[in-house]
This record gives sequence, structure tokens and C-alpha cells, in this order.
Amino acid sequence: MLQTLGQLLQLTVFLSLFVLALLSYIAVFTQPKAWMTDWWTRITSPKPELQLPPEPNPEPQIASWVAPSLDDVSDPRLRQQMEYGKELIAHTSKYFGPAGVIEKNRSNALNCQNCHLDAGTKFFGNNYSAVASTYPKFRARSGGIESIYKRVNDCIERSLNGKALDSGSAEMQAMVAYINFVGSNVPKGEVPEGSGLKKPTFLNRPADPVRGKLVYADQCQSCHQADGQGLVVKGQGEYTYPPLWGSLSYNDGAGLYRLSNFAGYVKYNMPNGATHDAPLLSDEDSWDVAAYVNSQPRPKMNIAKDWPDASKKPFDHPFGPFADGFSAEQHKYGPFGPIKAKIDAQKAKP
Ligand code: HEC
Ligand code: HEC
Repeated sequence: MLQTLGQLLQLTVFLSLFVLALLSYIAVFTQPKAWMTDWWTRITSPKPELQLPPEPNPEPQIASWVAPSLDDVSDPRLRQQMEYGKELIAHTSKYFGPAGVIEKNRSNALNCQNCHLDAGTKFFGNNYSAVASTYPKFRARSGGIESIYKRVNDCIERSLNGKALDSGSAEMQAMVAYINFVGSNVPKGEVPEGSGLKKPTFLNRPADPVRGKLVYADQCQSCHQADGQGLVVKGQGEYTYPPLWGSLSYNDGAGLYRLSNFAGYVKYNMPNGATHDAPLLSDEDSWDVAAYVNSQPRPKMNIAKDWPDASKKPFDHPFGPFADGFSAEQHKYGPFGPIKAKIDAQKAKP
């Protein structure tokens, strides 16, 4: 019995030494085989993170965007073209409006700058900072990829209630050159803080045009007039206070016809001179005055082809059909919280 145990022990020691010698030989004298290194890295390295494609950047990265200056453009021809584009944006109606010097009645009494303040450079004044960096892009309103030319023509046909310009025309080329220049200090794909419009907080009731009329009389009428038709100060050749409704104002397919755009524009920019860090109106006043102005008569646009996918309509697009079950009335005046929540929940579904 003891003898067998001893033999077994000897055998074990011998076998162990043999295996050890073999392993040392492999380790020292042979190249590691691929399967060995694979296996080794597999058991020793941590599981790699799942690689996701980079997301488009939803959060603004540039906190204090300032438009570049045309004075810094050294090429005189380029600079001249961009100055012309800026002039057209600041005084559009002089060139294309009711008494336009290039073409009469191609557009209404508004200038691009009336809504894109300081020629599209004002912080939260509907500026052009993110245009060069994000176009061409897909827009759900048209259901297709839009170039900057198409986007400018959208505003011409809607906000200016006019006829689209040929993209090869000197005027379109100049405006787009200027708009591209305004956003030229923003990296591709990014949207700086202060771009476009700041949205005011939702009310938990519908916006009230009756109360809005009082806000209008108090805060807006002195400039835009009781009848909303604005005012031409003698010798100016264009509206000093642009019309807010009626045949010379934006039509019902325009961005400002959506209540959140109007309320956001007005809260952080009106009465003229208000800014995002020194607003003069409360959220309530902004929504209510928006409801009042947007319930006044204005030109109609054929928007039958807009929003080919009804589920992509924004919460405050006031024309059906709707994919979310809320009424046209609620889409026009709110309360918007419940509509937005439902749209967001539908978006979150896989
Ligand atoms: C009545 C107001 C108004 C006028 C006038 C107007 N726009 Fe606009 N524009 C808007 C609003 C509001 C938006 C944003 C709409 C939205 O987000 O739904 C916009 C958006 C744009 C954009 C896209 C901005 C971005 O960041 O995506 C461009 C470019 C533009 N407008 C150019 C012009 C030009 C050029 C003119 C003059 C030919 C003009 N607009 C006249 C109200 C106006
Ligand atoms: C002190 C005069 C003044 C007051 C008060 C004023 N605005 Fe304006 N508003 C202007 C001027 C000037 C512009 C054009 C700005 C520019 O071109 O730089 C303008 C532009 C607008 C626009 C965009 C252009 C258009 O015609 O659609 C809207 C909308 C607007 N104002 C709404 C209002 C509302 C609502 C109020 C009241 C809460 C108000 N404004 C109060 C002077 C005023």
C-alpha cells in the first residue's frame, strides 16, 4: 500500500517536472501561436465598450457666440457681395416690397431683419449663427433635404408672403454669401447658444387672445398701431414699425404663425430693444399677445404639401391632420404641455 503511494508520488513529481519543462520550452524557444495570444487577450482584457455612432450635438457648445465682422474680409469683391446681401436682408422691402426698386410686389412690407434682428446677428434674436453649420439638412416640414437657398425661399414665400428667388440670381447669391459669413465661426454640425429663438415656458392653460388684446394695447400699439398695420415714418421709404397682420404681413404658413415662435420672439425682443437677459414681458403676456396677433386676419398659403409625415408636426402647428389625437384648437392655443409630452413619448418608442 505504502509502496504504491510512493510510486504514485514519484510519478506525479516526474509528470509535473515534465510539464514545467515543456511549458518553459514553449515560452522561451517558440513564438507564441495566434490562438494562444488571442485566448490570452480574451481572458485578460476588459470587455470593450459598445461603440455607438457619434450623435449630432444637441447641446450648444459655443456659449457666447458673436458674429464675425465684415470689416475683416480682405477680398474686396467678396466683401462687396456680402455687403449687398446684408443690405437686402436689412431693407428687403425697399428692393422687392410694394414699391420695390428691383421688382414691385415680389414680397410684402417686411424686411428679413424685422424678424432676424440686427441682420441676423442678435443673440436669441432669430440669428443666422447655425445656418452655415447645419445646412443642408433634413426638414420635416418639406419632408426632404433643404439647402440654404431653399430655406431662404421658404421665408420669402411665407414670412415675406412673396415669390421665390432664382438661386442663381445676384440677390440670392449675395444673401446666402452673407448668411454663410455670419455663421463662418461656428464648427460644422454645431448649434451655438443664442441661435434662433428662445422658447418661453409653457402655460398650463390655453393662451388667451382676449387678454392678449389688452397686452397689445398696453405694450405694442404705440409702435405697431391699433390696427396692427404698422407705420411708415415720413421719408423712410420702408416701414419703421412693421405690420403684424393684414395683407402686408407674414402669411399663415410662416414660422411666426406658430405660437411658440411668436411668443419666444416677442418675449426676448419686444417691445423693440428687449433682450434675452432683460426681457420686458412675462411668459403669460407673451403667449397671450401671440394668441391675439395670430388670430387676426392675414394672407393664406397653400400648405397642402407641408409635413408629409403628420407625426412629425410640431406641437403648435395649427393645421390638421394630426397624428396625436389633440384638436386643432389646442394645437393653435395650447395648453401645449400635454401635446408635447405625447409627441415626446411617441418619439421615445423604439
Ligand atoms: C415674419 C418674420 C420673418 C421674416 C420677415 C423672415 N424670416 Fe426667416 N425665419 C423666421 C422664423 C420664425 C424662423 C424660424 C422658423 C422655425 O424654426 O420654424 C426663420 C428661419 C430662417 C432661416 C433658418 C434659420 C435656422 O437657424 O435654421 C433662414 C436662413 C432664414 N429664416 C432666412 C430669412 C431671410 C433671408 C429672410 C428675408 C428674405 C427671412 N428669413 C425673413 C421668421 C422670419
Ligand atoms: C418701441 C416700438 C415697438 C414696440 C412698443 C413694439 N415693437 Fe415690435 N417691432 C418694432 C420694430 C422697430 C420692429 C422691427 C425691428 C427691426 O427691424 O430691427 C418690430 C418687429 C416686430 C415683429 C416682427 C415683424 C413683424 O411685423 O411681424 C413682431 C412680431 C413684433 N414686433 C411684435 C411686437 C409685439 C407683440 C409687441 C408688444 C408686446 C411689440 N412688437 C412692441 C417696434 C416695436
